[in-house]
Amino acid sequence: MTPGKFITLEGGEGVGKSTQVDAVRSELQAAGLEVVVTREPGGTPRAERIREILLANSDEAMPESCELLLMFAARATHLHNLILPSLKRGAWVVCDRFTDASYAYQGYGRGLSLQHIAQLEQWVQQGRQPDLTLLLDAPVELAMQRARARNSTQGQAQGDRFEQEAHAFFERVREGYRVRAAADTTRFRMIDASQPLANVTDAVRTTIRQFIAQQSI
Ligand code: TYD
Repeated sequence: MTPGKFITLEGGEGVGKSTQVDAVRSELQAAGLEVVVTREPGGTPRAERIREILLANSDEAMPESCELLLMFAARATHLHNLILPSLKRGAWVVCDRFTDASYAYQGYGRGLSLQHIAQLEQWVQQGRQPDLTLLLDAPVELAMQRARARNSTQGQAQGDRFEQEAHAFFERVREGYRVRAAADTTRFRMIDASQPLANVTDAVRTTIRQFIAQQSI
């Protein structure tokens, strides 16, 4: 059995990842592939419980180290119980965020040591990396307007613990993602998410079709 491919989607708040996860899924299914769609933090029952802890607003301060370790704790169980077994049986895994988010948010956003993150990555993933990462990139102001509009439609006035961060935090997150994408143009495809939605979706679908075509060479 040929192992499946591991595709991740990344980007700041409000860049439209969820919509594009659906586009990736339908493009892969149209090619006759078995697809497992998942997300981080989360993806398995235990990891989803860790996600609740990570996103909840609380009076108890969340030290940055705790936040980073919980991200990797959730990732460890997610990899072990869902991602790796799915790839092994030949399914393609599409994950809404993965370790690039830990570099962008905890590393560039919070200012935690990139070396510490790399150590956790090595320990938890044992060298396993996504095969393809789509980075949806948009100016922070535009993306934040979209995220606010989404929250108010869903009746969430406040936003989760991350969404309450200041503008400068999200500028650092965006920069972190861009630095990582520039450093690995084999794995990353940068998509301009400030375009009208239909164009973003077209770009995502084209990228996925090209990636599938490369696999069968
Ligand atoms: P997500 O569900 O993708 O949020 P949204 O759809 O609002 O973009 O991710 C939840 C939050 O977790 C998001 O604010 C980014 C953050 N996050 C990290 O800080 N580090 C990580 O390693 C991951 C996977 C997510």
